[in-house]
Amino acid sequence: MLLKYIVSLVAAVVGANAAAGSLQKVTNFGTNPTNVGMFVYKPAKLANPPPLIVAMHYCTGTAQAYFTGTQYANLADTHGFIVIYPNAPDSGGCWDVHTTATLTHDSGGDSLGIASMVRYAISNYGVDPTRVFATGTSSGAMMTNVLMGAYPDLFAAGSAFSGVPYGCFAGAGMWNSQCATGQLIKTPQQWGDLVRSGFPGFTGTRPKFQFWHGTADTTLYPQNFWEDIKQWTNVFGVSQTPTSNITNDPLNGYSWAMFGPNVNAILAQGVGHTVPERANDVLNWFGIANVTPGGPSQPPTNPPSTTNPPTTTPTTPPPTTGGAAHWAQCGGIGWTGATSCASPFTCTALNAYYSQCL
Ligand SMILES: *[C@@H]1O[C@H](CO)[C@@H](O)[C@H](O)[C@H]1NC(C)=O
Repeated sequence: MLLKYIVSLVAAVVGANAAAGSLQKVTNFGTNPTNVGMFVYKPAKLANPPPLIVAMHYCTGTAQAYFTGTQYANLADTHGFIVIYPNAPDSGGCWDVHTTATLTHDSGGDSLGIASMVRYAISNYGVDPTRVFATGTSSGAMMTNVLMGAYPDLFAAGSAFSGVPYGCFAGAGMWNSQCATGQLIKTPQQWGDLVRSGFPGFTGTRPKFQFWHGTADTTLYPQNFWEDIKQWTNVFGVSQTPTSNITNDPLNGYSWAMFGPNVNAILAQGVGHTVPERANDVLNWFGIANVTPGGPSQPPTNPPSTTNPPTTTPTTPPPTTGGAAHWAQCGGIGWTGATSCASPFTCTALNAYYSQCL
């Protein structure tokens, strides 16, 4: 099983990045009880302030492998955000997603080391604390689930490729066959209670969460996709019936189900372990696809001063006839582009700064 897992994972991460710079190792970034490695990609020109993506590798992977195997670093050059690639301390290269410490806010485990990296980046790199995101593949997707539950105060959104629900590996060792094979079934309430136990007393806004899974996954069986739906719809208090489910989106055979604005579940028909990362879709979900180096990562809340006219030509394209395309921005504070969407998409407000054609 483990060998199969390794082979399928190496094959699954495709598309080398062509980032201009290199990965930097950072030490002494704060509390790090399990000695997680911190590797940072900071593009030459940052947005002001820069958003942050924490990108987490699969079992047997490394920070370096995820840096070269995904598109986040060269997209960071384009958009001016920072990427942190944590490196798992475990000899098998998997994340600790099972101990009570890692599953609980500020209690220890690998998740605390990662939380310290985020806090360090906010304090030392000027990262926008309202725009911190997590993504990952397989074990990294499981850790994304863990971070959503244990550190909802730090993250605005997550995107997990082929993972399992928060707490699904709890109590086991590094591997939990019952969970992996899709035999760990809980009620929505039980799954939701697990997430709420990750940070008892937390009353703030929880990160919105998107997860991807293949129907032919024989490493982390697709039942985990359905358990994830139970879990996160319960956490957000929404129905388990999708508010929309678009077929052949974003690829032929995929279906993109939404359960309101905070839970998206994308099922990839016939895809095994793992669903390849779709970095541009992830940036859209995070609401940072329009961020530019030097530019604000979100529009200013005060209107720009008229005594200092901008020296650059606006880059916003004119509204297209027929409305903006699927996933395009269509509104929000400071937005001057098209506000209608091409059929059959609807302009949907995700927050005050960002509306999207969904
Ligand atoms: C969305 O629709 C597809 C195609 O009918 C289906 O296979 C999939 O299970 C649906 N997704 C959800 C979350 O219900």
